[in-house]
Amino acid sequence: MLDQLRLEIDNLDASLIEILCRRFETAARIAAYKKEHGLAVYQPEREIAILNKMAGILENKSYGIEIRELYKHIFQLSRRLQISQAFPYNMVLIGFMGSGKTTVGRYLAQISGYTYYDVDHMIEQQTGKLVQDIFKFHGEDFFRSLERQTIEHLRNAEYAVISCGGGVVLNHDNISCLKVKGKLIWLKAAPETIYERIKHQNDRPLIQNKNLDDIKEMIQARQSLYSNAADYEITTDGKLIDHIGTDILNMLMRQ
Ligand code: S3P
Repeated sequence: MLDQLRLEIDNLDASLIEILCRRFETAARIAAYKKEHGLAVYQPEREIAILNKMAGILENKSYGIEIRELYKHIFQLSRRLQISQAFPYNMVLIGFMGSGKTTVGRYLAQISGYTYYDVDHMIEQQTGKLVQDIFKFHGEDFFRSLERQTIEHLRNAEYAVISCGGGVVLNHDNISCLKVKGKLIWLKAAPETIYERIKHQNDRPLIQNKNLDDIKEMIQARQSLYSNAADYEITTDGKLIDHIGTDILNMLMRQ
């Protein structure tokens, strides 16, 4: 009896694999079509339409919860497939402190189905210490060596969105390493915007008690490093996170 049921599962899996292959192949063809016609890859309204249609089909069926759950995963994988087909690189976010790398990076990972890596957060996880404490008790050079190691660790990451700390551009080895599999996207923001975002935060050791003029000077000093490292750039002033995220995706897909 058990053997028979197992055989049935094996046959169902074979059919399911066949169907899933066809589904992913079709998704890949849609990606090629979208790229050719300059259409947005990420169209949330389409996913909502599929889910609504599915709600009707699933109404009187068992396992609705499981199937919806499975579809969330299929959507993620389909998006990842479509995006990576049109843009086969990791998305690496660089820019000055407060330019929105973390929030935009999280959002980008969510909509692309890519894995999110936040370099500062990885350093904190690895050391069990906050970035500001590493600066305070061990100094900037020590922090930079941890940053270097962490980025080295990401050299072969795939399907990745990587948010870097603002100082990543200070060491050119970081840039070469990130470019092995990725393209660097510079999030730009005016000093006034950055100052407004960070003035009440106290977790950034390099800009504690700095005024707007200091921030302007620091941005100026790093400007050419960001500009030389960047493959793409986008201005974030006055834009909502989801708009920045979709603008970035659309910009990358157009290449
Ligand atoms: C730094 C930026 C910070 C963090 C550290 C140093 C810098 O990251 O890595 O405080 O040198 O610009 P964020 O840009 O995410 O704030």
